[in-house]
Amino acid sequence: MNMQQLVINGKNKLQGEIEISGAKNSVLALLAATVILNGKTTLTGCPELSDVYSTCQILTSLGCSCKRKGNSITVCSDDIHKSDIDHSLMMKMRSSILFMGALLARFKSRPCEVFYPGGCPLGDRPIDIHISALSKLGAVITENGGKLICKAPNGLKGADISLMFPSVGATENIILASVLAKGETNLSNCACEPEITDLCRFLNKCGAKIYGYGTPNIRIVGVEKLYGCEYKVCPDRIETATYMGCAAVTGGELILNSADTSSMTAVVPVFEQMGCKIYAREHSILIAAPGQLKPVKNIRTMPYPGFPTDAQPIVMAALATAGGTSVIVETIFPNRFGQAAELVKMGADIRIENDVAIISKSGGLYGASVKCHDLRAGASLVVLALACEGKSILSDIYHIDRGYECLEQKLNAVGGDVVRTY
Ligand code: EPZ
Repeated sequence: MNMQQLVINGKNKLQGEIEISGAKNSVLALLAATVILNGKTTLTGCPELSDVYSTCQILTSLGCSCKRKGNSITVCSDDIHKSDIDHSLMMKMRSSILFMGALLARFKSRPCEVFYPGGCPLGDRPIDIHISALSKLGAVITENGGKLICKAPNGLKGADISLMFPSVGATENIILASVLAKGETNLSNCACEPEITDLCRFLNKCGAKIYGYGTPNIRIVGVEKLYGCEYKVCPDRIETATYMGCAAVTGGELILNSADTSSMTAVVPVFEQMGCKIYAREHSILIAAPGQLKPVKNIRTMPYPGFPTDAQPIVMAALATAGGTSVIVETIFPNRFGQAAELVKMGADIRIENDVAIISKSGGLYGASVKCHDLRAGASLVVLALACEGKSILSDIYHIDRGYECLEQKLNAVGGDVVRTY
């Protein structure tokens, strides 16, 4: 798997339509949630991604049945019998930690065993907020050599929980643990990301009572049981931003169908400042790029509805083609400029000072052999490679496969020249 590469010939103007897939970060949470449901759940619009596959492997390892048919995944957790997850499966991705809240809700006093999760190398990624919040709900979590042994000896009980930072994963874990808890949970300073809204809508369709999602204050009234349902995963806003980047650097014009425009409010103005024309309808975005992008001086990543950290590497690649100096401040992760050194190999002029990136006008962009450092860093190399003179060869593309469905097919259908070699 690690030997695969993407060979990209740049300078083709992209033109046409791309269908946006279901959101990776939503489907992973929804799949974890199936652990606490009775009966069958069918999720539609599930992208074919290695992270989705790994999450299904976790479900199967627990004894759930998990079947994919096209873009639908049907899960039934009625026969779940294991309450521990192997280290190797936990290490595949960060979202494996959501099984902590889900297993606690399912098994209550029976001990569950998980490990610290894997995921993109974006600096230190602790889970202290998850653990302290779940403890407030009555969980007892002990650590033994990287293994986390979790149980709720007296069951889970609703509590008032205020997060010190609006962590996406911690918010999801608390929601999963509290929907079946006794009484009411009031969550403040929680994350507002659209994937959280998707999780709450899904759980409410299954019978949960969650109010206020999409805001920093969520109220959850515990219910006795939840029942599986059919649910369509929301569109992937980061995939949408990525293809906006691809259009922007090639002077192209793309229509992104099935996009969720309402989740793009912080991203659209950045592309507009670059000089792109954007026509947004409710479920599609048209982006038409100029011949030369303009720099943007003040991008700061923030929790939603601010500018998403996941789109930062992509926008950095686009700004590397601009005719002036841009500045990006990364406030969410301590080490999320892993793409910069590789973008520089393609001729980008990028200087990093702690959490600030200064991107200046390049003296010329040319294809190069580059390595994907993490998922979105990999996507940023794709974006810049599309703008480069000549051929780029991207290695370690398994990172990209974690989050982009049919990337080369989608790009080639609109005029790109992207080939996967084995
Ligand atoms: C989710 O990660 C996403 N992953 C990430 O997407 C995304 O970058 C991130 O949210 C921020 O939007 C999934 O949904 C699977 P956080 P998560 O907890 O939940 C600190 C992608 O490319 N923190 O909101 O791990 C943490 O270290 C990925 O698709 C604590 O200090 O993000 C970080 O600095 C990468 N203690 C910040 O909060 C904790 O207990 C944000 O993390 C938890 C988090």
